Amino acid sequence: MRKTLRISMTAVALAFGITAYAQAPMHQMDHMQHMQHMAAASNDTRQLVSFPPEMRQHTLANMRDHLEALSEILSNMSAGRYAKAAQVANVRLGMDSPSAEGCKGEDTPSKPQISKPASMDHQMTQFMPESMRNIGLSMHQAASDFAVEADKAGRSGNPKPALAALSKVTQQCAACHASYKVQ
Ligand code: HEC
Repeated sequence: MRKTLRISMTAVALAFGITAYAQAPMHQMDHMQHMQHMAAASNDTRQLVSFPPEMRQHTLANMRDHLEALSEILSNMSAGRYAKAAQVANVRLGMDSPSAEGCKGEDTPSKPQISKPASMDHQMTQFMPESMRNIGLSMHQAASDFAVEADKAGRSGNPKPALAALSKVTQQCAACHASYKVQ
């Protein structure tokens, strides 16, 4: 009985092996792509920025909100709701949004602070390398610039300059992700 089971399991294993072999040419492509991907991952040249654990969590939560905001901006743009897209950009990504605080140094001109001076966002300025902070500032500035263009699109009906401005935002997302990691 046991022997029969073992034999039939061997048969099943063999059958899988043969099927896998027969499909090898197709899978080889996937395999090559996978290996390329692995090679890219092991050539990870991003600089590790050490944040205290809470700050890291806070940053990643902020990041997820950035992506959600971007997604809302795009769906509003595609529906012709340009003013709404501008509003999302201003409130969630622009220079006056709370998330921009983390990138503003002591000497960055900004509106008088209503938020507590020692907020987590504010403290982040001490942990980020200056070049990272500058990319962050460029991203927040690009989002504010986009909002201006999106409001103009509301009047002109032409969304192209706003879309060009939005691509400047995502360029900064990508630039920072290419250079830095927090874990
Ligand atoms: C100043 C640098 C910087 C900018 C600008 C930036 N990010 Fe990030 N982002 C990071 C870092 C660092 C991580 C963590 C990556 C890691 O450790 O692997 C991250 C992670 C993320 C994650 C993953 C979050 C998670 O839970 O793991 C998302 C999503 C993301 N960013 C979206 C965005 C979007 C969208 C933008 C632009 C609107 C943006 N980021 C701009 C630095 C930045």
